[in-house]
Amino acid sequence: MSETPSAAIRARGLSKTYGVGSAQVPALADATFEIPQGEFVVLLGPSGSGKTTLLNLVGALEPPTAGEVEVLGAPLAGLNERQRTEYRLHTVGFIFQFFNLVPALTAAENVALLAELTGSDAQKRTAEVLERVGLGDRADHFPAELSGGEQQRVSIARGLVKGSPLLLCDEPTGALDIETGVRVLGALDGAVRDFGRTVLVVTHNAVIADMADRVIRLQDGRIVSVQRNESRVAPEELVW
Ligand SMILES: Nc1ncnc2c1ncn2[C@@H]1O[C@H](COP(=O)(O)OP(=O)(O)O)[C@@H](O)[C@H]1O
Ligand SMILES: [Mg+2]
Repeated sequence: MSETPSAAIRARGLSKTYGVGSAQVPALADATFEIPQGEFVVLLGPSGSGKTTLLNLVGALEPPTAGEVEVLGAPLAGLNERQRTEYRLHTVGFIFQFFNLVPALTAAENVALLAELTGSDAQKRTAEVLERVGLGDRADHFPAELSGGEQQRVSIARGLVKGSPLLLCDEPTGALDIETGVRVLGALDGAVRDFGRTVLVVTHNAVIADMADRVIRLQDGRIVSVQRNESRVAPEELVW
């Protein structure tokens, strides 16, 4: 019997409200959507529209107030604490606006830290992913010796080295100029095209939506549209 492959992410009625009583903020309300595996998905919306909240729920960094989310067929609500830790380590890679590198460790050591936690051959895998994001010759540099774009590529390498099927990226180009931003997006695109990973990029930059397979638009905590792009623009052709 053939089985339909499970979606990368399936959310139903997903909601998150912060605060209590009259101070309640509905950060995300009733989000229902499905993302197939192996897509580059852009989550687009203005500041305060609930993008980070949605990413945090999918990353099991916080629990929803209502609704449910399944990743690769497994409902996150069903995970116990140990399984949730495993999930955050192995299933998802996180990439943030401000890189989050350990300043006292070199590029290679920052990546190796996660390589060692997630499998054997850590040194080899570290060298491979640094090469992959174009930083083979910067492996022994400390974060302070790298440009913003290079630091962000180290953080992508860190996400890739785990081999996690899902990469969650919160405004990954928000702190970068366009040229370095495009290189970073190219590295993320490679994760989808060459390895079949699923990449979810949160941004308020509408131009980035042009390179996506699918665009989810958020406004005031609600999904206002989900659209599949008929044709995609290559990252290096984006201009903003
Ligand atoms: N920890 C929190 N406590 C209270 N309100 C929050 C918290 N996190 C986010 N919010 C509110 O939820 C809404 C959505 O926030 P967020 O998901 O960060 O939006 P975005 O990432 O699109 O800028 C905003 O109104 C924000 O102020
Ligand atoms: Mg945000």
